[in-house]
Amino acid sequence: MSENTWNQKHLLGLEHLDREQIWIIFSLAKQIKQRMAEGEKKFDVLDEICVGNLFFEASTRTRTSFNLAAKRLRADTVDFSGSGSSLVKGETFIDTARNIEAMGVEIVVVRHATPGASHLLAENIGASVINAGDGAHEHPTQGLLDLFTIWEHKDSLEGLTVALVGDIAHSRVARSNIWGLRTLGAHVVICGPTTLVSRRWQDFGVEVCHDLDAILPRCDVLNLLRIQFERQRTGLFPSIHEYAHLFGVNRERMECAKDNVLILAPGPINRGVEVTPDVADGSHSVILDQVTNGLAIRMAVLTLVSGRCL
Ligand code: CP
Repeated sequence: MSENTWNQKHLLGLEHLDREQIWIIFSLAKQIKQRMAEGEKKFDVLDEICVGNLFFEASTRTRTSFNLAAKRLRADTVDFSGSGSSLVKGETFIDTARNIEAMGVEIVVVRHATPGASHLLAENIGASVINAGDGAHEHPTQGLLDLFTIWEHKDSLEGLTVALVGDIAHSRVARSNIWGLRTLGAHVVICGPTTLVSRRWQDFGVEVCHDLDAILPRCDVLNLLRIQFERQRTGLFPSIHEYAHLFGVNRERMECAKDNVLILAPGPINRGVEVTPDVADGSHSVILDQVTNGLAIRMAVLTLVSGRCL
């Protein structure tokens, strides 16, 4: 298993990534992390390659992380935001991307509110495309950094019970987690209010539950997904207070969890809703490890899609 056996031009999702491909990414991310821990700051991988970060939706972590990852690999970078661009004059999504590609951009990182936007781009431009989140569909690098963080702390994902708690209906992170976790052998439970967690998710090979307290004692990992108020057109639960009461992870609930349970959250978090500040900042939380690992994962993915080696 080595980066030489990687054969994917794009990274659009985890649904079709197999176990070996995920391990190639993890192995490279681990090497990168080790070399950075030893003091190496820059890697001569993407010299003379330009990476375009095309963000048509808000982002803090993913955008900054891809930007830094490209710079650490010595790429040139171009940042594009939907707001303030010629989209307001009626230019299309594809024309926008084609024009940026025409300036010599060879790897495009794209976030868009529409599911399938990154697939559309991959079909319409020559550059490699990395999906940085497409609507409620997938967020593959977030899924990879979540899995990598669990692997670092638990040594293996095989047989672990991982609960995804919260707004599953609107979550691209949920889908990428489900595909990746199942590929690596974890048992996945999704948990939240019935309006956000439909029984139909059983078709994805996961256990569906609407009672967090019932599953808490057997979970090895809790990945707390944000309530995506911006994607909800109608109130899907009576109040934030009620959601926090039934599904928020707080000190009392932690007393019912396993001693070595890991708390993950993709961020941003609504403090006091999905998780209380003492738990988010507590000893079980690996939320900032996820962010640190995001850099190594994105450096690994940029390296692999470029066809170059570390
Ligand atoms: N987790 C995540 O995608 O965060 P951002 O929206 O800030 O990029």
